[in-house]
Amino acid sequence: MAERLDGTVALVTGASSGIGAATALELSGLGASVALVARRSERLTDDPQAREVVERAAAELGRLDTLVNNAGVMLLGPVQDAPLTEWQRMININVLGLLYCTHAALPHLLDAVSTSPRRVADLVNISSVAGRTVRSGSAAYNATKHAVGAFSEALRQEVTTRYLRVSVVEPGAVDTELAGHNRPEILAGLTERFAHQERMEATDIAETISFIVTRPRRVAVNEVLVRPTEQEG
Ligand SMILES: NC(=O)c1ccc[n+]([C@@H]2O[C@H](COP(=O)([O-])OP(=O)(O)OC[C@H]3O[C@@H](n4cnc5c(N)ncnc54)[C@H](OP(=O)(O)O)[C@@H]3O)[C@@H](O)[C@H]2O)c1
Repeated sequence: MAERLDGTVALVTGASSGIGAATALELSGLGASVALVARRSERLTDDPQAREVVERAAAELGRLDTLVNNAGVMLLGPVQDAPLTEWQRMININVLGLLYCTHAALPHLLDAVSTSPRRVADLVNISSVAGRTVRSGSAAYNATKHAVGAFSEALRQEVTTRYLRVSVVEPGAVDTELAGHNRPEILAGLTERFAHQERMEATDIAETISFIVTRPRRVAVNEVLVRPTEQEG
């Protein structure tokens, strides 16, 4: 049965839109106090900034039980002639931002296990179908999301016996602002590809995350791949 999150504190990165915004609402509806981060206010792309965000959330809200590493960008296109600034942006936020936030949050999450009535804490990393299967035209994005999967599984093995659960969520296509940052020619191809398919809504992924973090402490949902029903690959 789903447990409530009253008395717990969650930090959601990338919470200004899409999946992060929906997740923040979902967790707060379950009783958690939620700290929100987004580039519009704070960038997570270097260690001091990420650390400051985590420390401030833990200090102002008193603890940290749940971290949802959701902030991300998806800049697609062939490797040949790809603007390297796009790769740097993706590696900075999708990989380094997630690693830095995790590193800063780890002591707080482990503390929360011993001080919470639930006696469990959660780290949820948002990967993608692109973290499971690769396709031509997504090489660098694939590389960042595979990194999320590899990092999460190794960390899971380090902390799971201490009741810090590490989960990876791998969404397929969700109707958000994510694709909108692509170059016009790439965006046109993406729009065409998904024009005739029903995509998921951000709330569908928020509900997946809420399922994960409301399990009783004996249950760790390590990995969830969730696609729109019509999405084949
Ligand atoms: N939508 C999909 O189809 C889909 C599928 C699979 C996986 N995902 C993953 O889901 C996650 C959320 O994406 P979304 O679809 O909800 O897209 P979105 O609506 O574009 O949201 C992305 C969020 O990340 C934040 N962000 C970007 N760069 C940042 C930075 N440097 N520092 C801090 N925050 C930053 C954005 O903040 P600002 O807006 O303030 O910049 C925004 O809140 C991403 O990791 C994405 O890879 C999405």
